[in-house]
Amino acid sequence: MSTHATQIAKHPKITVIGTGYLGATHAVCMAILGFDVLGVDVDQKKIDALAAGNVPFFEPGLPEKLREALDSGRLNFTTDLERAAEFGDVHFICVGTPQAPDSHAADMTYVDSAFSELARRITRKALLVGKSTVPIGTAARVTELVQRISPLGTELEVAWNPEFLREGFAVQDTLHPDRLVFGVASLWAEHQLSAAFRPILDQGTPVVMADLATSELVKVAANSFLATKISFINAMAEVCEVTGADVNLLAQALSYDTRIGGRFLKPGLGFGGGCLPKDIRAFTHRAGELGVGQAVAFLKEVDDINNRRRVRTVDLIREMAGGTLAGIRVACLGAAFKPNSDDVRDAPALDVARMLYVEGAIVTVYDPEANDNAHRLYPDLNYAESMIAAVVGADVVALLTEWQQFREADPDDLSRLVSHKRIVDGRHALDADRYRAKGWQYRALGRPAESATVALAFDARDEILA
Ligand code: UDX
Repeated sequence: MSTHATQIAKHPKITVIGTGYLGATHAVCMAILGFDVLGVDVDQKKIDALAAGNVPFFEPGLPEKLREALDSGRLNFTTDLERAAEFGDVHFICVGTPQAPDSHAADMTYVDSAFSELARRITRKALLVGKSTVPIGTAARVTELVQRISPLGTELEVAWNPEFLREGFAVQDTLHPDRLVFGVASLWAEHQLSAAFRPILDQGTPVVMADLATSELVKVAANSFLATKISFINAMAEVCEVTGADVNLLAQALSYDTRIGGRFLKPGLGFGGGCLPKDIRAFTHRAGELGVGQAVAFLKEVDDINNRRRVRTVDLIREMAGGTLAGIRVACLGAAFKPNSDDVRDAPALDVARMLYVEGAIVTVYDPEANDNAHRLYPDLNYAESMIAAVVGADVVALLTEWQQFREADPDDLSRLVSHKRIVDGRHALDADRYRAKGWQYRALGRPAESATVALAFDARDEILA
C-alpha cells in the first residue's frame, strides 16, 4: 500500500454518475455537506428536471434539499462525461443493477459502462467509488477493467461504499447514516474516501474499513437478513393460520426480547421494492456461481414465503367475497411497495390488485403518490382520485400499503360508502377491534377470523413493531 499523502484532495470535488434514486439523493446531500458536486446522467430529461429543482420521483424532504443545494451554487448537473472526468477527484458510481431479463442475476451493463467510460476519460489521479449493489467480486473485476483501459493505469483506483438508505428516509439516512462501510485496496483510497465523508465522520458515525469483497458482501448480507426477518414472521403467520394463533400478538411477544427486537418483524403482505427481492435473488445466483449455493439456499425459501403472502391475501379477499371474485368490487388501498414512496417495483400491493383483476374482480386502486406509476404498469385497472372515491360501492376493501391516511380512516365514515363492510388488512395496520365494533368483518393474514383476545392498545403495539 502506498500513501500518496500529497495527492489526497482534502476537500475533494465530487461527481455522482447516475442520478436515479440513490445518485440524486447522494449528489444533493454531498452538496449540502459543503462539497462541490456534479451530477451526471445519460438521461437529458432527468438532468433538466434536477437542474430546474424538480425531483423526478417522490421522496419526502428531497425537493427542499435539492433547491437548497442548487441555490448554494455547489451543485450542478450535466450529461457530459468529459466534463465529469475533468471535474472530479472522487467519482461515485450510482447506476442501477436491475434483475437481468432472463435470470436472477444482476444486470451489470450500466455499472461496467459507467466505470469504463469514465476510466477512458480521466487524465489525473482519481478515485472511482462504486455505490451500486453488485455481485461479490465486481469491485475486483472492475478494478482490473478500469486500470487496463485508463491512460493512468494503476493510478486510477477503485473503492466500494455500499449504500443502506431506505426510500422515504433517503435524506436522513444519507446525512446521518448509522454506519459507513469503506471497501478499499490502498491507504490512499482510505484517506481519499475519508476526506469525501469528513463531515459525516465528524458526527461520530462508525466506519468499517474493509477489503473490497467484504464491502460488497455487507450490502447483500444486510438486505438478506432484513428479508429473512420479514419472511420469518410471515412464516409464523402461516402457522398461526392453521392453529388459530394470532401473529400480531406473537410478534409483539417476540419483540420484547432485545436479542430479536421488533423492527422488521411486522407481519403482512411482505417485502417488495427495488432492493430486497432483487438482491436476495442476485445473491443466491452469485453464491451458486461461487460454489456456495447451499450456504444461502434458505433465501429461496425466504422469497417463496414472501410470494405466498400475496397469493394468500387474494385467497382471503376471495373467501370474504363468498368464494368467487368474478364481478366483485374490490377497493385496493395502496399500490406503492411501502408508504411514503411512489415506487411500484415488485410492489406486493399492485401484485395483489393484478391477481384480483385476473380473477374477474372489478378493481379500483388508490395510492396517494403511486397512482401514475401503477397506471403505467397496469393500465387496465381502475384508478381513483381519493380513498373515498375508491371505496364507494366496494364489496371488499383491501388495505395493501399502510399510508397514514388509511390507518387513520374512520370506520364509520367508510361504512357509509361501501356496499359491504368487509376489510382485509394486508399490513396489520388497523385496529381490528375498532372495525369489528362498527360491524365490519375484519380479516388479516395470520390472525383469527374473530377477535378472541383482548388486544393491547393499538398505539403501543404499533410503536413496538414500527
Ligand atoms: C431496503 C433496505 O432497508 C435498505 O437498507 C437498502 O438500502 C435498500 O433496501 P427499502 O427498499 O427502501 O430499503 O425498503 P424497506 O423499508 O427496507 O422495506 C422493504 C419492504 O419490506 C417493504 O415492502 C415493506 O413494506 C416491507 N416490510 C418492512 C415488511 O413487510 N415488514 C417489516 O417489518 C418491514
